[in-house]
Amino acid sequence: MSQPQTSRKLPQGKRILSGIKSSGTQHLGNYFGAMRQYVSLQDGNDARYFIADYHSMTGVYDAAERRGNVHDIALDFLGVGLDPARAILYRQSDVPEVGELTWILASVTPLGLLERAHAYKDSLAKGTSIEAGLFFYPVLMAADILIHRADFVPVGQDQQQHIEMTRDMAGKLNQRYGEVLTLPEAFIVEDVGTIPGLDGRKMSKSYGNTIEMFAPEKELRKRIMRMETDSTPVESPKDPSLPIFQLWNLFADADERAEMRDRCVRGGQGYGDVKKDLADRVLAYFADARRAREDWARRPSDVEDVLAAGARRVREDSAPLLDALRQACGVGRP
Ligand code: ADP
Ligand code: TRP
Repeated sequence: MSQPQTSRKLPQGKRILSGIKSSGTQHLGNYFGAMRQYVSLQDGNDARYFIADYHSMTGVYDAAERRGNVHDIALDFLGVGLDPARAILYRQSDVPEVGELTWILASVTPLGLLERAHAYKDSLAKGTSIEAGLFFYPVLMAADILIHRADFVPVGQDQQQHIEMTRDMAGKLNQRYGEVLTLPEAFIVEDVGTIPGLDGRKMSKSYGNTIEMFAPEKELRKRIMRMETDSTPVESPKDPSLPIFQLWNLFADADERAEMRDRCVRGGQGYGDVKKDLADRVLAYFADARRAREDWARRPSDVEDVLAAGARRVREDSAPLLDALRQACGVGRP
């Protein structure tokens, strides 16, 4: 595979593209690890984000659930400030040309390239039956990116291999049919570290340990109170690097963090109080976003309009590239 091409410098004046798998409502890990940074990239860039409903078909098997997830994720992003006047938001399946490009790329992609994908190897190791869609996942992802002629793809470290594979596929196509495709670079978003979940492991939908910032207030408080802590008595010193404090730190300034560290070392800081305070802080931090999200939620057809307008722009914008590609490959009307 080609050398990793990554950048950490905040892009300006670039075309940015990233996708969000529609496998469930977004949580604090997604927010700090991805969403927040995607939203900030809409300033000064041509930023485009899409909800990857086709990709979700490798893990979500219920049609109504998939539709609901797409809508929820659109609400989450609009709530946290993705501005349809500045950035494009669309649903992957509303741009059928992505499917066309997937096939074209598949026909230049060596099997061995796909066999090296981490996700595929992990599934293989588990020994469960694997559908071709899972094996093909990186080709669809490459099409998502290449259809935009994107400069940068902001992703977490876990997705870096997919961007390298995308570059490889684009390179193969260009070699065979001429320089049609632009090779993108991964933009590895600011490393916020791993946000821990309720059980201390990485916060992840697949572990069921998430805190969803837009859950109803009562539910959100209840979930945070359920966070696993040990039975150290209130008066005893505590380890300030425990997951509960890591989460709390996300919502505190430097002075507050230093005070909390002191109280941990001295003793007298109970876990229950930190949890209550964390819930208050999460609610306060996302208060405006929650209001904005609720406002969008009352207007579902406006949300659909945002997605439809986004898809329309992408289709219009990618038409010349698709034409050039068809000509280069000798398919379609001459
Ligand atoms: P999940 O593990 O819940 O399925 P995803 O894999 O869909 O989450 O995550 C999408 C992006 O959100 C990741 O690429 C990563 O950048 C970010 N992310 C998710 N969970 C965390 C976490 N616990 N800590 C930091 N970033 C995270
Ligand atoms: N594979 C990504 C994830 O699991 C989602 C995704 C699909 C994506 N297509 C993309 C990300 C294109 C960036 C660019 O998070």
